[in-house]
Parts: sequence; C-alpha cells; structure tokens
Amino acid sequence: MNILILGSGGREHTFAWKIVQSPKCEHLFVAPGNSGTAEIATNVNIGVTDFEAIKELVLDKNIDIVVVGPEDPLVQGVHDYFLNDEAIKHVSVIGPQKVAAELEGSKEFAKEFLYRHNIPTAAYESFTKETVEKGYVFLETLNPPYVLKADGLAAGKGVVILNDLDEAKAELKSMLVDAKFGAASTKVVIEEFLDGIELSCFVLTDGENYKILPTAKDYKRIGEGDTGLNTGGMGAVSPVPFATEEFLAKIEERIVKPTVNGFKKDNLPYVGFVFIGLIKVGDDPKVIEYNVRMGDPETEVVLPRLKNDFVEILQAMSNGTLDKINIEIDERAATTIMLVSGGYPEAYEKGKEIVGVEAIEGSIPFHAGAQIQEDGKIVTSGGRVMAITSYGETYQEAIKKSYQNIEKLHFDKMNYRKDIGFDL
Ligand code: AMP
Ligand code: GLY
Repeated sequence: MNILILGSGGREHTFAWKIVQSPKCEHLFVAPGNSGTAEIATNVNIGVTDFEAIKELVLDKNIDIVVVGPEDPLVQGVHDYFLNDEAIKHVSVIGPQKVAAELEGSKEFAKEFLYRHNIPTAAYESFTKETVEKGYVFLETLNPPYVLKADGLAAGKGVVILNDLDEAKAELKSMLVDAKFGAASTKVVIEEFLDGIELSCFVLTDGENYKILPTAKDYKRIGEGDTGLNTGGMGAVSPVPFATEEFLAKIEERIVKPTVNGFKKDNLPYVGFVFIGLIKVGDDPKVIEYNVRMGDPETEVVLPRLKNDFVEILQAMSNGTLDKINIEIDERAATTIMLVSGGYPEAYEKGKEIVGVEAIEGSIPFHAGAQIQEDGKIVTSGGRVMAITSYGETYQEAIKKSYQNIEKLHFDKMNYRKDIGFDL
C-alpha cells in the first residue's frame, strides 16, 4: 500500500509515525511534511491545496490512500476533485466531501445541522451586514459574556468572547460591516455562552458505521492558567479524567449517533475523522463545534493510545467496513507539551536551530513547525515547533516525563506552558 499524507504539522508527523508501524504500508509520502516526517517517509514539496500537483504525485507514485490532515483542502473540495477525475477516482481519500466539510467551513451550517438533528448545543442566531441592527437587539436579549463567531474559516481567530455589551456591538459591526475577518465574517453567528469545562471527542466514520477514539483535552491559550491569546493548542491530555463512563455514554447517545445519522439523512458523504468540540455543562455534554479532521495537538496523544494497525483502519474507513474493526486502546495516559517560538501566536522569528532532540529518552518528539536543512540541522519554521508526547500510568506521570525531556531541548526563544493538566 502506498500512502500520501497531506499536511506539515505535529498531527501529520503523528499520522506518519503510526502508519509506518503497519506492515501494510510500503511507501509513505508526506506533502509537504516537516523534519519529523523526513526521517520516516518521503517529503514532497507540494502545497496541500495544489490539487493538480497532488494528482500528478498520486499517479507518479501509485498512491492508494490519501490521508488529509488539515481542513483547508477538505473545505476546498479535495475529495470531490479525486471523485470527479477518471484517472484518480479509484484512490481512497480519507476526509469528507466538500458539502460535508461545510460543518467546519461554516459555523451557521454546523448550527443548522445541530438544530435539525436535535443535538445539544448553544442557542444562536446569525446575522449579515444587512441585519446588523437586529444583531444589536439580539445581543441586548443575552446575558454576558457575548460569543461572536465569524461564519467562515478564520485560522482559529474567528471567535470573540466579550463581557461588555457595547464592546460586543462594536465587534459585531467590525466583523460584519468592516469585514474584520474578510469574507469569513460576511455572516456572524451570535451564541449563548456555555459555562463549563471543554473536551474533545474523536470519531471515525465510513459514512455508515462509526468508531469512537479516546477523548482528549487541549490547552488553547498561550498563558499559564488558561490566560492570554488563543493558539492552535499548547498541550493535550488523553484520556480526559472527568469523562466518566456515564458521561461518555451520554456523548455517544446524544451526540455521536445523531451526528453520524445526520450525515446519512442529509446526504453528507463522510469518510473521515469527526472532531467534536464539547463542553460539559453541569453533567451534560453540548457541542461547541465540529471540525472535519483530527485535532492538533490532540492527535499527538490520541493516536499513540491506539493499538490497532492504523492502515487497516484507513482501509476499513474507505471500504465501508468499519463495523468489522475492534478498536483497542492502550490503558496508559498520554500527554503532550507543545514547544513554541517566542512571540507566538503573534509575530515570531524562524530558522532557529533546535538542539537536543536525539537526547530525548522515554518521550516521543513529534515535529511540527520544524524543517531539516541541507547541512542536517533542524530549524524552526513555524509558531508551534515540536510536541513532546509521553505515556504514564497517570497523566501526571506522563506530563512529568515530557517536562524532564524538554529540559534537554533548546532553541532560541523557546516557550512552552509549564502547567498542562493544571485544571484536571
Ligand atoms: P471554536 O473556534 O468554535 O472552537 O471556539 C473557540 C473557543 O471559544 C472554544 O474552544 C471555546 O473555548 C470558546 N467558545 C466557543 N463557543 C462558546 C460558547 N457558546 N460558550 C462558551 N465558550 C465558547
Ligand atoms: N487543537 C484544536 C484544533 O486542532 O483545532
């Protein structure tokens, strides 16, 4: 089996790490990949939305399965591109088709889906430039804090939560009238604020059957104690200690089943990963968002706990035989700590040499924004640089191991959160 992974982050390095463990994998390619994937697979310098170049590569290398890491190619219809081309329609693409990817591509589409299928979520209304005055009136009916969401993809920055009514109105105007997030804020969803603790649930589906992967919790804010700006994620823990069996059963019955049934009822062709962002309000789970891909850095703790042959799972997803797979999970906890470039998520410098990776013992370094130079040096190339994953009998033990290994690593202005798991 020849496999191609699209993407270049810690998530994609983790996919690659798991795929090369399968005897079914002959050749693995990653486009564009990073220094971590370069060690175990062949990197090809092609962008994830350059569909023509991807097609050429797939034909040239006889690729059987394409695993799509990030949301952009899915929202732009990479799966449909394959299906509509005689030369590559036989290739298995892991990721939903364009209409289904709208679950992440449009917040309003996701809210309408949730409401239509009676899946618990925050109350909402959506507004455009033409109805901005109605938006102000709607805000007045809500209690603070006010949750405003740009409808489209805004690189994780499109959600604004404000305590002050006047500020919320000004923000709504800036999104709708002044196009603060460009086309992404042509529409804005205003939501009821849900107060609780967040966790994520990951589901595999072949469109008919589903399997649930371990839960994970990520730490989105840059600062300790969950303060400061939002990031892509600064660390993650799996399993989530407060997700008891009873709570997980509620997630499956009230959320996972109606979600997968909803795909069928609404004709949303879905072969891929469903990332359900949840919040525990009292004892009940509610959906905050859908993502049509795996999470990053959640993948760095979820996949290491999966004991199955991952290629077998990918095949079952594309053949519609996921019901035949028995998911086996490592009982140990897994945690990851993300090392980031100083300044991230705002401006930061790149090209800093990363030293000490080979000294790591008992943890797995998943490379993210890191590239290998011709002279063999590994240098930073992004905000999130490397995720240090460890196993432990408890999450505390796993976290300790990651922090011990981080002591051995260094790059100029390296930053990371020292309190991952503090709230559990
Ligand atoms: P999203 O991009 O939809 O994941 O939202 C970003 C973050 O905003 C989430 O991870 C939550 O922390 C927060 N958030 C989103 N919607 C709500 C809501 N209705 N109530 C409370 N917090 C929310
Ligand atoms: N860690 C959150 C995400 O992948 O969107």
